[in-house]
Amino acid sequence: MDQYEHERDGQYDFYKVFLPRVDPTRNVEDLLGDSNDGVLNGNLLEFKLHVSDLGAVLLQCVKYLSALRIKGKSVPANILIVDVNTSTIWQYRSAPYLAEIEKTYFGGASKNNAGFIGGNAEAVLHYDDPLGAERVVALLKENNFTKIHIDENCIVGWAERFYREVPTARKEDFLGDDTGKHKTIGEIRKPTHFAEYIYPYTGQTNVKFHYLMDKLNDTLQKKNLGAFYTPDLYAEKSLELVRAAIARVPVGNDYIILDRCAGTGSLETKLTDEELSHTVVSTIEYYEYKVLQELLGAKVRHIIPPVETAETFRAGLVAGSDALSKEFVENPVIRQYIDDPNCTVILFENPPFAETTSAEHQRMGQSKSSSVWKQSYVVSEMKKEIKGTASNDLGNAFIWSGFKYYLRQPTDSYIVYSPVKYWKAQHLIDREFLDGFAFNRRHFHSNIYACIMCALWLNQPSSQKEITIKAFDVDTVNNTLFPQDALSVKQIFSTYSQVYYDKRPIHEEFRKGILAGLDGLEKEGGKQRNRPAYSPDILGYMVAHSSGFDNPELDSSLLTAGRYDGNGFFLRKDNYLEKLPMFCASRYITYNRAWTERGRIMKSADGAEKFFADVASGKLAQFLLKCLLFTCTEMQNHMRTFMGSDGRFYRNELCLDTTSGETVASRDLKNLVLNEKEEAILRQWGRVFSWAQKAEKYDPSLTYGVYQIYAELDTFHTDEVTGDTVYDNVELHSALAGLKALVKEYYNTEIVPVLFEYEFLK
Ligand SMILES: C[S@@+](CC[C@H](N)C(=O)[O-])C[C@H]1O[C@@H](n2cnc3c(N)ncnc32)[C@H](O)[C@@H]1O
Repeated sequence: MDQYEHERDGQYDFYKVFLPRVDPTRNVEDLLGDSNDGVLNGNLLEFKLHVSDLGAVLLQCVKYLSALRIKGKSVPANILIVDVNTSTIWQYRSAPYLAEIEKTYFGGASKNNAGFIGGNAEAVLHYDDPLGAERVVALLKENNFTKIHIDENCIVGWAERFYREVPTARKEDFLGDDTGKHKTIGEIRKPTHFAEYIYPYTGQTNVKFHYLMDKLNDTLQKKNLGAFYTPDLYAEKSLELVRAAIARVPVGNDYIILDRCAGTGSLETKLTDEELSHTVVSTIEYYEYKVLQELLGAKVRHIIPPVETAETFRAGLVAGSDALSKEFVENPVIRQYIDDPNCTVILFENPPFAETTSAEHQRMGQSKSSSVWKQSYVVSEMKKEIKGTASNDLGNAFIWSGFKYYLRQPTDSYIVYSPVKYWKAQHLIDREFLDGFAFNRRHFHSNIYACIMCALWLNQPSSQKEITIKAFDVDTVNNTLFPQDALSVKQIFSTYSQVYYDKRPIHEEFRKGILAGLDGLEKEGGKQRNRPAYSPDILGYMVAHSSGFDNPELDSSLLTAGRYDGNGFFLRKDNYLEKLPMFCASRYITYNRAWTERGRIMKSADGAEKFFADVASGKLAQFLLKCLLFTCTEMQNHMRTFMGSDGRFYRNELCLDTTSGETVASRDLKNLVLNEKEEAILRQWGRVFSWAQKAEKYDPSLTYGVYQIYAELDTFHTDEVTGDTVYDNVELHSALAGLKALVKEYYNTEIVPVLFEYEFLK
């Protein structure tokens, strides 16, 4: 009998022996992946060197099965506990433990399991004898599953799986019920695709899932509806702004609180009955509408449409509820208030969020033209008045139309959730800001840490250029709001490309050479949307594109040759130093990841006059050299040294490797009066470079920057057994990590404050 010191060895040996008999097409890695020891057909396996407490191991397995259910994965009918040193398997059935499996567990599955009292094993097998081994083979071939119940904890996982496995399915096919006019009975109520895995859900309506209805949208709806629900704590906090707006209602006036995109009514849940009696809600998605009807229908003044008819369901949407349609803008139920001079209008909304130009969006293969809302009445009207990218934003269509069609009097107001860009950079509105909050986007069913503003706008013109919002994160442990420092939001008026990009013409004779990709090497094939250039005064190519930080890696580049898709300019030796603050500012978000920064801080050229004056007077000479040191030691500088296919040698001049003589950077940095931090960075660079020179692939004819060292010399391989990454040059890898830490600290203390002072960051 084999004896093991490491559980993993026993586990891998077990699979090596049995997999060829059970399913030769699979390998060990396929079976892992959910942090357990493997799922093979209808079996969850858990390996131990020595099993000493079957109850504790059983509870550990129950926790793994609980995690599978939550992720929408089928729950194996068998639990196999394997003792690798005695070649023993205890087989349990999972069905008797369903109540435990359907609980949610926090913390490591292997912790706090002592004291669990399970039943007796179904069977005990010894696979060191042929008969036992054959029984194990038969068991591992079993493909049975324990049916689970659908609840709030697992429905999102099962919905995602359903839409993945049945790509043509719509939300009704998953969630449909028997209560409205439209009667598609969905998968959760009458399982066919999941017949072997789930029990029918017996809840009559979907109200229990009201807070999750955005996450239950099918893929197509996710694209078009841009639904990210507001967490309760934020919804409640924003009622302060609603109440401030109500306080401004002139004496004797009626008022309405209108939410055209209410979803399942998260924003309205905590309004008082009196306030609800002034509220008008609507939403476009059919199952949201039904839940909204159930939760608020009896309390609000109006819901649009007022009742469901045979015509209401229209391909998953609610006929007449598209807030961007002409029909909705002219809806008589709402119009009666808009046309009434004695009624004050308060809009209170968290508009859908879908920006079709973002890289995030395009990566998902969602082309610009595919968005239905782009063809809407409101968007086409908006395009007549609003030029540029502002009209690419679904949220903007709501904000713009809110002011355009609904607000008429100075005492009308709009409380709206949205990233600040519409006011800060796009100047979509010029109304007066009365008060507002900064909320963390992470808590709106999103993985992104960013600032969402909830602002109270008065319907009065204003020339404010700076506003202050109070920041609140959510303390998820105690489920309370966690106040942070108030944040300033300043408008921006000019971009780098308008003001700072070097636009001097390049003579045709130098318009040759090659183009580079994001990785700094020559870009071969693919679309090339830029013209190359090569001349003795050209150092490289810089991209410091776009005001925001939505795609920092795409929007900031430094390359030895022109970037294939442009959006930048060629850096010239005579003035490259004064261009570097743009590159430095483009790195801000990478080193300042707090949620308060993304979406709020942007790049601008608004301080250009002062900047140019102080560059001319020499006041900024040392600062520009600090920017140079940062540029030479920071990883996003993707300048590399290589031989181009045009036969030219492209040398990285913005790095500190002087093996083949001075670089432009090393020459200029001699003028930097070094402080301790700079000396430490240079020392660390020395370490990095000396280890780089020892790497197998080091080529002394090249001039290496930090990125080229990282990309070409800090090599690694994957350990075949453990799957771990193993670095071939551990000292080099460690030295690079050390440099990174020093550079980050240096950047935030010595460079960022000046970037703000000169409004490169604002
Ligand atoms: C960001 S969610 C906000 C929902 C809810 N008010 C909240 O704060 O949790 C936006 C909502 O707008 C709805 N929606 C999207 N496009 C719409 C349209 N054209 N007309 C009306 N509602 C729309 C979505 O279905 C979604 O429920």
